[in-house]
Amino acid sequence: MKAPLITVDNLCMAFDGTRVLNNISFEIAEGEILGIIGRSGAGKTVLMHLVRGVEQPPTSGRIIYHVAACNGCDFLDVGSAVGKPCPHCGGTLSAHDVDLWNEKDEMMKRRLMRRTAIMFQRTFALYGNDRVIENVLHALDDIEYPQEKAINRAADLIDEVRLSHRMMHIARDLSGGEKQRVVLARQLAKEPFMLFADEPTGTLDPETAKLVHAMLINAAKANNMGMVVTSHFSQVIEDVANRAILLVNGEISAIGTPKEVVAQFMKGYDDSETFERADLGEKVVVGRDLTKRYISVDRGVVKAVNGVTFDVFTKEIFGIIGKSGAGKTTLSRIISGIIEPTSGEINIKIGEEWIDMTKPGIDQRGRAKEYIGLLHQEYDLFPHRTVLDNLTDAIGLEFPKELAMRKAIVTLKMAGFSDEKSKEILDRMPGHLSEGERHR
Ligand SMILES: Nc1ncnc2c1ncn2[C@@H]1O[C@H](COP(=O)(O)OP(=O)(O)OP(=O)(O)O)[C@@H](O)[C@H]1O
Ligand SMILES: [Mg+2]
Repeated sequence: MKAPLITVDNLCMAFDGTRVLNNISFEIAEGEILGIIGRSGAGKTVLMHLVRGVEQPPTSGRIIYHVAACNGCDFLDVGSAVGKPCPHCGGTLSAHDVDLWNEKDEMMKRRLMRRTAIMFQRTFALYGNDRVIENVLHALDDIEYPQEKAINRAADLIDEVRLSHRMMHIARDLSGGEKQRVVLARQLAKEPFMLFADEPTGTLDPETAKLVHAMLINAAKANNMGMVVTSHFSQVIEDVANRAILLVNGEISAIGTPKEVVAQFMKGYDDSETFERADLGEKVVVGRDLTKRYISVDRGVVKAVNGVTFDVFTKEIFGIIGKSGAGKTTLSRIISGIIEPTSGEINIKIGEEWIDMTKPGIDQRGRAKEYIGLLHQEYDLFPHRTVLDNLTDAIGLEFPKELAMRKAIVTLKMAGFSDEKSKEILDRMPGHLSEGERHR
């Protein structure tokens, strides 16, 4: 292994006395891509924040970056650059160990963080109303890149993530995978020596995800950039990482090649489990030749849903699968009465009556909507209300406190939380949960 860039030494993290990370130690080499895999709530994001140096300091333990710092300007590089002249001012680069969470190294930490970059699952962190090229120019502006060279540099970065054909498009009109690549281009503008990617492709379909993975690997190679990437999808770790860590309940339970670690992670998950066919009841949803068309200035008539016919029965779990842009969300919204189809029929049985979901009004589809729950990819919680409130009065359910708690715990358990965990999180704010916990 090359000289370590980062040493994580005996790291522990607790929130209000509850341990979420326990004695974590490992090293990351220069240019290495380290994968962190683990189930929801294992501690991946907390660990990544600590290694990045953001949010709260660890309860104990240290994170040391072994770097080369210029004596003439703010420039800072990886340890192997020690002794080389500074590319910016010609000064000398000398060795420094930066103790990331130690206040005495605050200045060094700031210099260091200017050369690390981030990529997340949900916050696309783009200027939605601006063009792709403008988004990248903003990023160059942030690092005070010389203006006269910025346009060329921005175009190069867009080339690097293979988006030249989208350069003049408005960011919000791009597909998920394209947006994620603009984010990458913006982050590469910083010439980072380290990229932290937390579930970077979690919301993308497998094919698009592969594309973004390839882009990440290219970017790492071309820029001699190291990377920490977390995921609970084994494919991400296998595609991207050189080495991997398996986190279980805040502890390292395996560390090694991605293959070995993923094998360990997948133990106990057995796809060969046979499911008994449910005894289906009667029809509850009937869709006939449903279509939904949109008129778009750029794209003309868009057929979001085009002639879909299906039946769903009680006790049935009916899946809709398709690539990004295939129409899954639009169809779900037609079924649940949020939007009307352009043509076709959609009827839902409530009690003894069939309700025509194409007809607005409280006597029509309004009656059915009350009984339809919807979980979105882009879900929302009330950020300043506790989990308990979010499950009860924030959504208009009023109960005496005792009953509210019982109801909330039952609901949390249905979403896969243990009894203990359910009680523990009732009074928490959504921001203090892991991503997967929030979603559940
Ligand atoms: N600010 C906080 N206060 C209290 N507990 C927290 C806080 N942030 C995270 N936790 C808890 O720490 C544990 C680890 O959370 P973390 O976000 O690291 O999980 P994760 O592995 O990233 O999960 P996911 O795959 O769902 O994103 C969880 O049990 C979570 O509830
Ligand atoms: Mg997470």
